[in-house]
Amino acid sequence: MSIARLTLPGVLAAALLAPVVGASAQTRQELLLTTGWKFSKGDQPEAARPDFNDARWQQVRVPHDWAITGPFDGNNDLQTVRIEQNQEQKATQKAGRTGGLPFIGTGWYRRELNISGFGPGKRAVLLFDGAMSDAHVFVNGREVGAWPYGYNSFSVDITDALRPTGRNVLAVRLRNQPEASRWYPGAGLYRNVHLLLTQDVHIPVWGTYLTTPEISAGSATVKLRTKVQTPGNAFQPLRLETDIRDAAGKVITTVSTTLAAADGQQFEQQLVVPQPRLWSPETPVLYSAASRLYAGNTLKDEYVTSFGIRSFQFEANKGFSLNGQPRKFKGVCNHHDLGPLGAAINTAALRRQLTLLKDLGCDAIRTTHNMPAPELVQLADELGFMLIVESFDEWKKPKVKNGYSQYFDEWSEKDLVNMVHHYRNNPSVLMWSIGNEVPDQWAPGGVAIARRLQDIVHREDPTRPVTAGMDQFDAAVNNGFAALLDVPGFNYKPSRYPEARAKLPQGFMLGSETASTVSSRGVYKFPVELAKQKKYPDNQSSSYDLEACVWSQTPDEEFVQQDALSYLMGEFVWTGFDYLGEPTPYDEAWPSHSSYFGIFDLAGLPKDRYYLYRSRWNTASPTLHLLPHWTWPGREGQTTPVFCYTSYPAAELFVNGVSQGRQTKGPSDQPQTRYRLMWKDVKYAPGRLKVVAYDAQGKAMMEEEVRTAGQPHHLRLVADHPTLTADGQDLVYVTARVEDAQGTLCPDATNELQFTVSGQGQFRAVANGDATSLEPFQQPRMHAFHGQLVAIVQATQAGGAVQVKATTPGLPTAILRLQSAQATAH
Ligand code: GAL
Repeated sequence: MSIARLTLPGVLAAALLAPVVGASAQTRQELLLTTGWKFSKGDQPEAARPDFNDARWQQVRVPHDWAITGPFDGNNDLQTVRIEQNQEQKATQKAGRTGGLPFIGTGWYRRELNISGFGPGKRAVLLFDGAMSDAHVFVNGREVGAWPYGYNSFSVDITDALRPTGRNVLAVRLRNQPEASRWYPGAGLYRNVHLLLTQDVHIPVWGTYLTTPEISAGSATVKLRTKVQTPGNAFQPLRLETDIRDAAGKVITTVSTTLAAADGQQFEQQLVVPQPRLWSPETPVLYSAASRLYAGNTLKDEYVTSFGIRSFQFEANKGFSLNGQPRKFKGVCNHHDLGPLGAAINTAALRRQLTLLKDLGCDAIRTTHNMPAPELVQLADELGFMLIVESFDEWKKPKVKNGYSQYFDEWSEKDLVNMVHHYRNNPSVLMWSIGNEVPDQWAPGGVAIARRLQDIVHREDPTRPVTAGMDQFDAAVNNGFAALLDVPGFNYKPSRYPEARAKLPQGFMLGSETASTVSSRGVYKFPVELAKQKKYPDNQSSSYDLEACVWSQTPDEEFVQQDALSYLMGEFVWTGFDYLGEPTPYDEAWPSHSSYFGIFDLAGLPKDRYYLYRSRWNTASPTLHLLPHWTWPGREGQTTPVFCYTSYPAAELFVNGVSQGRQTKGPSDQPQTRYRLMWKDVKYAPGRLKVVAYDAQGKAMMEEEVRTAGQPHHLRLVADHPTLTADGQDLVYVTARVEDAQGTLCPDATNELQFTVSGQGQFRAVANGDATSLEPFQQPRMHAFHGQLVAIVQATQAGGAVQVKATTPGLPTAILRLQSAQATAH
């Protein structure tokens, strides 16, 4: 049975990781282990011992990425490889493939565990959201658990290794091998570590599974399965009381269930939500199920499961619908790194990414090519993004010498089970992906592996379909691989969708990876022409958005098919944000070490392509954008094409008041002409470039102007939001612009800016989006790239004023004042 052809019931919810609201210390304590860590690079097996002297180790805060401070070096993880996926004929040396950062090797973390009051009748569990990689966990010198895959979450019961009195010491050993990745993986305890202290009788990690099998306008049925653990499996008379609460915390309904011996260790509860408010990207309404577990009259545990109510369908020829409304995924693929912060997770950084994606009109994310951080999934629930949660980049047949294939046989089931248990309650998660471009697509036995993995996922969550990103079209379509997936996903095959429709049984498909157009923010190359694998001596790509890879396309080629084919369910653009590593088309050309694929650059600044996607995806607010910039000393009189990305159907361009004619989007053999307005013969003259956009009735609706910049005159600092939360973690992103006297961006400015942050904030990192820049992200100085860069300021734990100062020789000092405030208690 393929569940993709059935109506998929609405779902689900998240086991909350934050301290349980209202839970008293008598039931459970959920502690984030962020401070008190010591770290050392290099292997020291004796570091597992509690009496080991770590006085000289570095003090760090977790989440922590040991490699992001650099320095960059082309010899770090230097790989001599032939990338089959990229249709390469021979092996070449690739210096920046994994970002050129020093993440290879072994590292140790140590910390004391403060568990006062722990003793008989209590349980302790460590939950790692992700540890890069090959984690071995020791408590008081005893190995209590291990997990090789760096992207997955795992938990370890440490009860038996703890001492009720005296010191308890946690040590974690991590090891990253060379040639194990195709991008920058990060290094260390880069995601959160939680200590969960519970009673003997408790609900285990990810112990609930909530579904909403029936949804109508009048009511939604909520089915909640809750596991309990009782030490030694001794059965006790247990009772579970569950409230369903709305987003404001108001109790809607309550049920109380006693566990019969025949139920085993699992409660099954059913509740009804009248007039449910449905979850969607536009209305991300959440509910919660708050459960209290009693043994007799004693409260033993409290557990909150956050969930949303929504239904979706995948139907032959019709495609995708959410809550009965047909729609197509306006999606991006994103890697896990956060640019200058590296892999170290930070909720504020993720929130900024998602806020930028919202304005783009994006409504979906594929977590390429591995399990996301729980903070991302929770934010996707809250802000409204549909997720494809992906698991693997390779199965048995390797892409890289020391990749996941070495663990696949032993670990693939365990990894899938953890992934599904972790996120099967989250309404944002709509699909599970079992792999990306796995070479097993065409290897003998590959179809059987796909079936096994899909079956595991169905077993653990029958409510969501399984997909995979396929690049080997002929093999996968002809050998049964594509046919067995609930949802076939194709990477970079827009011209072959109709053929797949004819050959495959599902009747629908997904552009699981699309475009891979390359560009560098602020860079425009002449002549302006469509090109594949185009390289320039400066290691940059043109922002006219006409350059792609041999296997990939410009955005417009995908748009044509998305607009024509009803069974095509949308696209996931490669990528939303530039990421560390994979600097195609400069894979062999150090110092390139971060990608050129992003709609946003590595600093999170929009490239021109942002406006092309926005003009199509953001239906709530209009888009009108001109490119290139208009400061071209030396190009006077030369042909300098002007493109306009707009949500309006037509526009007229003026150079210094002289009309260059009106352009209208329309059917054409050339995909670009359908989605962009292009004046290809404009002769450059300094001054003003103006565009007036018209609606379908020919009414002038909006104007946009680009001016030639004069000399750099001042720095302008712009914060993405004015107030910080004084939690020691919150971030504000400050864009620094080099401007002329009129406030026009100086598009070629390369000034080196120096930052000083004072008051209740500290400098965290800086990035300029230049994939060739070897300047470290963690020093408070950097050169502007095409007139801009972004500095990241982090809150301290005290409220108060924060001052950000930027200086550069020859220009006045710029000062930005921000405010940091204590979070208001709810
Ligand atoms: C795809 C692959 C991605 C990335 C991309 C670049 O084939 O799935 O991980 O490598 O190409 O275009």
